[in-house]
Amino acid sequence: MCGIVGYIGGKQAAPLLLQGLEKLEYRGYDSAGLAVVDAGNGGIIVKKARGRLSALKKMTDCGKSIPGILGIGHTRWATHGEPNDVNSHPHLSRSGRVALVHNGIVENYAELRQYLCEQGYGFVSDTDTEVVVQLIDHYYENDPVAAVRRAADQLRGSFALGIVFADRPDLFIALRKDSPLIVGLGEGENFIASDVPALLAHTRRVIRLGEREMAVVTREGVTVYDHFGVKLEPEVLEITWDAESAEKGGYEHFMLKEIMEQPDAVRRTIAPRVRGDFTIELGLRRLTDDVLRSLDRICIVACGSSYHVGMVARYAIERMARVPVTVALASEFRYDNPMIGPETLVIIISQSGETLDTLFALREAKERGARVLSIVNVVGSSIAVESTDVLYTWAGPEIAVATTKAYSTQLALMQLFTLYLGRVRGRLTDLEAREEVRSLLATGDKLAELLKDTSHLQYLASLYFNRRDIFFMGRNIDYALALEGSLKLKEISYIHSEAYAAGELKHGTISLIEPGTLVVALCTGTKLHEKMLSNIREVKARGATVIALTTKPIPLDPNHPNANPDHIIELPACCELCAPSLSVVPLQLLAYYVALLKGCDIDKPRNLAKSVTVE
Ligand code: M6R
Repeated sequence: MCGIVGYIGGKQAAPLLLQGLEKLEYRGYDSAGLAVVDAGNGGIIVKKARGRLSALKKMTDCGKSIPGILGIGHTRWATHGEPNDVNSHPHLSRSGRVALVHNGIVENYAELRQYLCEQGYGFVSDTDTEVVVQLIDHYYENDPVAAVRRAADQLRGSFALGIVFADRPDLFIALRKDSPLIVGLGEGENFIASDVPALLAHTRRVIRLGEREMAVVTREGVTVYDHFGVKLEPEVLEITWDAESAEKGGYEHFMLKEIMEQPDAVRRTIAPRVRGDFTIELGLRRLTDDVLRSLDRICIVACGSSYHVGMVARYAIERMARVPVTVALASEFRYDNPMIGPETLVIIISQSGETLDTLFALREAKERGARVLSIVNVVGSSIAVESTDVLYTWAGPEIAVATTKAYSTQLALMQLFTLYLGRVRGRLTDLEAREEVRSLLATGDKLAELLKDTSHLQYLASLYFNRRDIFFMGRNIDYALALEGSLKLKEISYIHSEAYAAGELKHGTISLIEPGTLVVALCTGTKLHEKMLSNIREVKARGATVIALTTKPIPLDPNHPNANPDHIIELPACCELCAPSLSVVPLQLLAYYVALLKGCDIDKPRNLAKSVTVE
């Protein structure tokens, strides 16, 4: 959710902080703010503005009007209190001695607030964060580390914090629990940020703070302590993303750029894991072949689009590896007394590796003795670190809130894992597995072919961008894809949309179909073509306009033209395993072009944030 940056060094802090926040705006864009330590006057300058970062930039002349070489910044996704100037971060303590930025939710803020009120503290905002800054202030007696530790020990919930002190122009403090925070190491300057893109212009050497770890950041260096105050020797990671990969590169939106990057992203994810003889090398360390053979069942847990990947994967795993699979929403799983144990493999899918619901589900699974394999895009993220084994998708940084290339790479990797599992468990012969792998390797090229010409999707978008309701329907894997197509459309275009298992429509939802309703019918599962055609006829009979998506020609009814789909999108021929990777692309493009024509803010849709680090 919110984005945090911090800087100490020899340069003017505010312009650097704003540049960093620009790269994190996808994490929250309700308001933005800066706090810079004014060493000359012994105070903290705080500037904040409701709305997009541009308002803050204007207010501060791109940061130039704020002196100082040490500061913190924030871009907010509101949780407690409406997005206004007062509720924006940074928050300053009553005495003006401490300022902080926060990502997460402090669950016991009401009782702490009560306690502080009894101590004479007053509050100006509706936020949980103001409680934290006052609490640190309350404990501050010239020892920043002791005050922060004492306050943090009293916090329940999740937090990543960046904290500055008016009388300490030589340092700032960062710490985290259940919310991401990384430290960037420079030469004579050091940084903190919620995510890598904010640091790429300055350094590629980072430390990912672990749970409840605290960093004391000075110009000269960074000292990391664990929860008990023991000094640690943290691992320094080298980020391999190039700075351009987090830029738009000539595209109007990150989303379109990321859609277009899918062929390469999928190739990067699959090819290095396939040997010359088409056998698979996953490089799992703890989930050995023996462990994979001993599994009773698999439970896939994720949120949003990652959950939709899990739904597609279920069909493939059950068909090719014959292991029973359940797919659970992470936010439900934890509170559902899940029936899992040592013989269950829990597969966690997450682009960010920081989604809080998913992280908590992972911990629940481990507590119940399950082994956890995670499919993650962000190297070293909390989910990756806490899993039994991790397989990284090599999608590169994904900036647009609506996921596209992360979805495709998750899907491709799950398919590769499925083939590996099927082979290890003897459900696929060596020959069958190699043939499937060979076809899977062609996905990148097929995607590239598909993306060469998007004009048909632009045309369809121009016909239907002003529809009030758009339905998606499909059967089996196509149903899972319908869910993703519908989510993509609604999150960026704000058009009401629902996805239905095509056979289920007549059990209620068909009452919503009326003349002019647009229905996108996914018909890539060739075995169910005829069933889908019946469902298309059912909605056509009620006046719907139908776009059908197929992998082979649909047998049209020449005698009843009105019963046929109005438009057909035909995908390049491909193997069954690759079909979902291809089918999702027209759905992504349709959503994109519809949102474009509606003038929506595609990369930063309202109310959403890229990384959802609250429950
Ligand atoms: O980072 P994660 O994959 O864990 O995120 C899960 C969902 O929040 C995410 O897929 C969300 O649904 C996307 N905005 C969909 O485009």
